[in-house]
Amino acid sequence: MKRFISAAFIAASLGAAASTPLYLDVNAPIEDRVEDALSRMTTAEKVALCHAEGKFASNGVPRLGIPELWMTDGPHGVRAEINWDNWGWAGWLNDSCTVFPALTALAATWNPELSALYGHNIGEEARYRDKDVLLGPGVNIYRTPLNGRNFEYMGEDPYLAGEMVVPYITELQKNGVAACVKHYALNNQERWRGHIDVHVSDRALHEIYLPAFKRAVIDGGTWSIMGAYNKYDGQHACHNEKLLLDILKGDWGFDGVVITDWGGAHDTREAALNGLDIEMGSYTNGLTTESAFSYDDYYLARPFLEMIQSGEVDEKYLDDKARRILRLIMRTSMNTSKPFGAMASPEHFAAVKTIGDEAIVLLKNAPLGKKKPALLPLSPEGSGKILVVGDNATRMLNLGGGSSELKAKKMVSPLEGLRRVYGDRILYTQGYAAGRPMYGQAEDIASEVTDSLRRVAVEMARDAETVILVGGLNKNSYQDCEGLDRLDYALPFGQPELIEALLAVNPRLVVVLLSGNAVEMPWISRVPAVLQAWYLGTMGGESIADVISGEVNPSGKLPFSFPVRLADNAAHAMGTISYPGDSIRQDYLEDIFVGYRWHDTKEIPALFPFGHGLSYTTFDYGKPTLSASSMPYDGSITVTVPVTNTGAREGKEIVQLYIGDPVSSLPRPLKELKHFSKISLAPGETRDVTFTITADDLRFYDPDRKEWIAEPGKFDVYVAASSADVRRKASFTLE
Ligand code: GLC
Repeated sequence: MKRFISAAFIAASLGAAASTPLYLDVNAPIEDRVEDALSRMTTAEKVALCHAEGKFASNGVPRLGIPELWMTDGPHGVRAEINWDNWGWAGWLNDSCTVFPALTALAATWNPELSALYGHNIGEEARYRDKDVLLGPGVNIYRTPLNGRNFEYMGEDPYLAGEMVVPYITELQKNGVAACVKHYALNNQERWRGHIDVHVSDRALHEIYLPAFKRAVIDGGTWSIMGAYNKYDGQHACHNEKLLLDILKGDWGFDGVVITDWGGAHDTREAALNGLDIEMGSYTNGLTTESAFSYDDYYLARPFLEMIQSGEVDEKYLDDKARRILRLIMRTSMNTSKPFGAMASPEHFAAVKTIGDEAIVLLKNAPLGKKKPALLPLSPEGSGKILVVGDNATRMLNLGGGSSELKAKKMVSPLEGLRRVYGDRILYTQGYAAGRPMYGQAEDIASEVTDSLRRVAVEMARDAETVILVGGLNKNSYQDCEGLDRLDYALPFGQPELIEALLAVNPRLVVVLLSGNAVEMPWISRVPAVLQAWYLGTMGGESIADVISGEVNPSGKLPFSFPVRLADNAAHAMGTISYPGDSIRQDYLEDIFVGYRWHDTKEIPALFPFGHGLSYTTFDYGKPTLSASSMPYDGSITVTVPVTNTGAREGKEIVQLYIGDPVSSLPRPLKELKHFSKISLAPGETRDVTFTITADDLRFYDPDRKEWIAEPGKFDVYVAASSADVRRKASFTLE
C-alpha cells in the first residue's frame, strides 16, 4: 500500500500554522485537490489567481506551493520568450521552435488525423518550454477575405472547423498543456477589434459562429477558452453574460477557465459576475501598447477584492473562479503524470512536412493547348531553365503577423525547396518587393523599385522554359496580420502587373500563392497553373517543391471560398454596416448565409469554391446507395458511394456530403456540409465511402424555441468533390 501522508494529517501534527507549506496530496483526484487547496486559501490569494502578474503569467499561491500559470502564444508554434512586462523578445537562446503550418493550411488537409499529429507535436514543444497554456487554436469563422487573422483560423464552415479543431485539442492536452480556444466569440475582423459591437441573429450565432467552439468544449474538452476583444449585443465578450454564463458554462457545461484576450477586460463588476476567470494584458492592445498600471490595478485585482470584502459581490463568484483556475493548475503545472515534451526535433519537422504536403491546394492545372499535357507536375528530369520569381520565394513568413509570430529553428524557403529538386536549372529574381513586417506601417514601395524588379524578371522569363511566381500576401501590416485588416482584395506590391508582364513573354507560368486569405485573380484565365500554398512553416519549401515536381500528389481542398470580386462575398454585399461596421456597431446582415452558403443560395459562382482542390489523378463517384428511403426521427440511414481513382497515379480524395432541406419553416442554405471523408486510392482502385446520417445532421436552430429542430419531410443528399462540384444526388424522407 503506497504510503502518503495526507495534508490534513500534516496540518494537524504541525499545529497547522498558516505558514506551513501545503503538501498537496498530488495523487488524489483533481477535484479533491482543488477543494483542499481552496479551503486553505485566503480571499486575497483567491483574487490573485484571477489576474496577471506578468505579460504571460498569472498568480499561483506561493505560500501553499501552488505555482504560477505560464501562458504562451500561439496557434502555429511556441512563441519566443517575451519579457516579463513588455512585448519585446527576452533574447533567450533556447527558444527557437518548429514553425507549424498556419491553421488554414491544417484545415485545408481535411484530415483530422493530421490535426491530431499537429496537436501532439505542438503540445510537446509547449511542454518542453514549460508552458501551461498554449494560446490557440483559433476557430473564428472566415466571414470576409479582408480579415487580417483568417490565417490563424479554420475557414468558413463550422462543421469543418469543428472536426479539425477537436483532435488538435485532445492531443495537445495529453502533454499537460491547456489549449485556449480563441477568440470567443464573433471576432471575425481586426478593424476596431477592441470595441466593435457585433449584432447577429441567434440563428447565425448558433448555426455559424458558435459550433466550432461548442465542439472544442464538448468533444475537445478544452481546458481554457479566450474571450474575444469585441462586444456582442452591447457587452464585451470577455465578460458577456449570454456567451459565458448562459451558453459556455451553462448549456455546454464548460468546467475550464475563461481567459481574456490581452486587454479584453473593461469592467470589474461585469468581470466578477459574468463568468470571466483570468484577466490578462489589461490596459494594452495585445500587441504594442504598454500601460503604467500595476497588476494590482487590474479590474479583477484590488477593485475586485474590495467588492468581495465590502459584500457588494458574493464570495461564491470568487470561489467559482478560483476552483476553475485551481483545476487548470492541477491539469497543467501541478499535473504529476505529464510527459517532458520535445523541441524542434526531426520528428516535428517531419510532421510539418506531412501536413504541408496534404495542405497545398491545386486550384488550376490546365494544358497549354490541345493534346498537350497539363503544366504540372514539372518533371525533375527535364533540362530547361526554371525561373523562380517572387519576394515570397525567400521571405521568412514566420515573422510578423502579430502574436502568432515565431522564432524559427529552421525554415526551408520555396526557393531552397525548388533548388533541392531542380538543382541548377533554377534561376531566381525577386520580381517584386514587399518591404518589412513593421507593425502599423503600410509598405509603399517606390515605383522605380517595382518597375526595375519587374523588368529584370521579364527579361529572365523570356529565356526560361517555365516560370514559377511565388507570391501572395505576407505578414506585413494590412496583409495577413493581427490588429489590421487588408485594405482591398487585390494581390499587393504590383503582383497583378508582374503576372501580366510575365505572361506576355512566357505563357508557361505557375503561380504559387502564399496567403491565409482569398485574393483577386484578374489574370486567372491566362495562367495555366495555380497553387494555394498557405503559410506552411518550417518545411514549406519542401512541400511546395514536392507538389510541383509530382513527388507528392496534391490533395488539399479549400476551407473557404475565393469570390471573383469582393462584392460577391456576403459580408461585402450588405453595405458598410455589415463590413466593417460604423466603428461602433456592426450588423452581420448576411445572417446564416456565409461563404458557400451565400454563393449557393444567391447563385453567385465563386472563382474557386469551398471544398475545391484538384489532383494529378482523377476520381469518379459511383451511384450512391441509401440504406433506406425514409429515416425514423431517432434513427439513422447510411449513404454509400463507390469512389474510383480513374487516373494513372495514387491520389487522395476528400469526399464531401452536404445536406439540403428543400422545404423548411425557416430559410435555409441550399446545402450544408455535414460529413466528409479523405481516402487514398491506387490507380484503378474503387473504395466504398459510407456516411451515417442522423437527425443531428438535419437540424436548424429555431430562435423562438431556442432549440435545434429537424422538420419531417424530404431531405436532399449531395455527394460532392466541392461545394460547387456535386457528383451525385439522392433524397430521403425524415419521418
Ligand atoms: C493578442 C491576440 C491573442 C494573443 C494575445 C497574447 O492581442 O489577440 O490571440 O494570444 O494577445 O499575445
